[in-house]
Amino acid sequence: MNNYPLIEGLSLEDKASLISGFAFWNTTAIETSGIPSVVLSDGPHGVRRQEQGADHLGINAARPSTAFPTASASASSWDRDLLGTMGVALGVEARALGVDVLLGPGVNIKRSPLCGRNFEYFSEDPLLSGELGAAWVRGLKSQGVGASVKHYVANDQETDRMSISAEVDERTLREIYLKAFHRVVAKSSPATVMVAYNAVNGEPVISNHWLLTQILREEWAYDGVVVSDWGAAASDVVAAVRAGLDLDMPGTGAGSAALIDAVTSGTLDEAILDRAASRVVELATTLVGNRAHASDLDVDAHHALARKIAEQSGVLLKNEGVLPLTAETAGTIAVVGEFARTPRYQGAGSSHIVPTRLDSALDAIRERAGDRLVHFEPGFTLDGKHNVELVDRAVAAAHDATDVVVFLGLPPEDESEAFDRVTMDLPADQLALLQRIASVNDRVTVVLSNGGVVSVEPWRGSVAAILEMWLGGQAAGSAAASLLFGDANPSGKLAETIPLALADTSSFHNFPGNGQTVLYGERIYVGYRHFDSVRHDVAYPFGHGLSYTSFKYQDLRVDVIEDALEVQVTITNSGPRDGAEIVQFYSVPPKSGEDRPTHELIGFEKVTVQTGASVRVTTRIPLGDLDYWSIKSRQWVRADGVYTIQVAASSRDIRLEAGIELVGTEPARPLTLDSAMGDWFADADGAVALQEMMAQFATRGSGEWDDATRPLVLPMPLRTILPMAASKLPFPVLGERLLQRLSELRADPIGRS
Ligand code: GLC
Repeated sequence: MNNYPLIEGLSLEDKASLISGFAFWNTTAIETSGIPSVVLSDGPHGVRRQEQGADHLGINAARPSTAFPTASASASSWDRDLLGTMGVALGVEARALGVDVLLGPGVNIKRSPLCGRNFEYFSEDPLLSGELGAAWVRGLKSQGVGASVKHYVANDQETDRMSISAEVDERTLREIYLKAFHRVVAKSSPATVMVAYNAVNGEPVISNHWLLTQILREEWAYDGVVVSDWGAAASDVVAAVRAGLDLDMPGTGAGSAALIDAVTSGTLDEAILDRAASRVVELATTLVGNRAHASDLDVDAHHALARKIAEQSGVLLKNEGVLPLTAETAGTIAVVGEFARTPRYQGAGSSHIVPTRLDSALDAIRERAGDRLVHFEPGFTLDGKHNVELVDRAVAAAHDATDVVVFLGLPPEDESEAFDRVTMDLPADQLALLQRIASVNDRVTVVLSNGGVVSVEPWRGSVAAILEMWLGGQAAGSAAASLLFGDANPSGKLAETIPLALADTSSFHNFPGNGQTVLYGERIYVGYRHFDSVRHDVAYPFGHGLSYTSFKYQDLRVDVIEDALEVQVTITNSGPRDGAEIVQFYSVPPKSGEDRPTHELIGFEKVTVQTGASVRVTTRIPLGDLDYWSIKSRQWVRADGVYTIQVAASSRDIRLEAGIELVGTEPARPLTLDSAMGDWFADADGAVALQEMMAQFATRGSGEWDDATRPLVLPMPLRTILPMAASKLPFPVLGERLLQRLSELRADPIGRS
């Protein structure tokens, strides 16, 4: 009798086949034992259900499903409930399409704006990524559908993604790259965790026991299924299973034979195989049993939801008196840009969806403009070739129009899974067009459709408004029109900094590496953690986003209640219309044992406030979220002292702040004779012991060192300085007495005379 009753009676071949996957999207069924096959399919912002011609790059056809806003867009909503609702809808669609596990959310961190899959990830910040990812998973699970949080871990680029080794120090891994995964695991228990292709510090994640077992299982107590990214275990499935992999996808059959050989030859403990197979059986029997959950798929309702999410994800970066447009005034609206007619709404690769519908912004603007004439000019072609005639026509239309709305963005071939960008710039033909248009009309609004951040610096000063729609899904066109005309009040805020230039980014010298390794040399200083710590100007900061109304922040209160901070603030809508405000909470820590960013996001709440009204916002932040990873003691610790809690409209727009004192948990560094003299004087007991000894035996008392001498002496280890400063007694004896006195004081602090 083994410890895994779920696999009781299964042969070695059965168990190996459960782990090895059966087909591209299926696990193995074992009918005689009532074990069904699990169907997995891509997400994360739509169900890509393929029944013929399977692939993991979005090449072959898939059944139509709702193309929801990509993560780059939905993250800008900062709205847990909205992401949860998206997860519910995806769960309904997955069920309707016969899918048991939807492969998402993607919570890798945007350490560079150039990563080709940034459209598929949420943020540069792990808290925001983890909170939104967990909300998405909880929504999906409510429909009995499993998730697959991906790509565990440090898969933050596409260049050489199947071979590169991310060289990351442990503190950076834990505080930045593992943190979002930990939050999703802790707050939503996803059915599976997907292992990335890359290596970390020279060890492929797929066979990295520290990451797959010590961290995921032993520290985080994760009890779901660890599944490979497609083909990630191809080189050595036995090593992968030994390290903690449970499911090798896609099913190729090769894995099965290797596993049987390994167990037969004794190189793989059958108990490990049993554990993995048992987890797969549990997954299958749980999820497939939920298929009864399937409810009718309301395509129109999901399209409306996609539009609502896109509306709440649009970020109004700039608005100087031109938005919202009104249908009530006269004057032509010139709509320029092929993306107004041919929407740019999703990314390329495994997440590529066949949408159920597709709204064009041009149609939506025409519907919404009332009697105003709408004149459309494509201005550029999607192949990026400069077309003089198109430009001239667009400029002429802009010249004669009252308002101009220009739809720009990154063409599909500029950003995708499998490769990274080499520039942040918009295509040259689009920039040339915009420059000409801005020279003939001063009421220009630019609407952007892009997954990765684009440079706005060269041109933002010459336009009146900028609306960032990201890759906003199949309804982004109508959502953009709704925001432009003010039917929806913009509330989105940046989940990623827009730098002035690529060269300003902290990963600039270390992206994408040299083909073998990529050094995470910026350490924890990713995104705003870098820009704010070095006070570097940015085009638009993390957390920035405008509204058609305005908000006041008042009456901040911070308390410690049990093991959490309770932060309360009153938000008043002081503007002309109802709106939603994303309130951000940052922590400025006291000096601690490690260097730290100047501030870090510790919480956020989105609140809807009617014009003229006030709402009291309360948030609870676990004290553990203020901790840092101590390199010295290899554990999470809390710095001792006064934290400044900031309440902000963005990382650069701090509205209120208050101090709160917290007792630290930093373990006192053991004082030894190799410790610096300054460390002894900084320690209450150490100072007493050292002063007593100096008073008795020193040729020069510590008090005699003047300000010029002290900085030279205090950093010196006792073993070096004492023999020079206290020659009345040989050092070995002196040192022993000092340590003896210290231990007496430690044992009986009141004995401090
Ligand atoms: C791809 C992607 C992963 C996707 C999987 C299946 O290579 O990395 O995100 O879920 O394979 O298509």
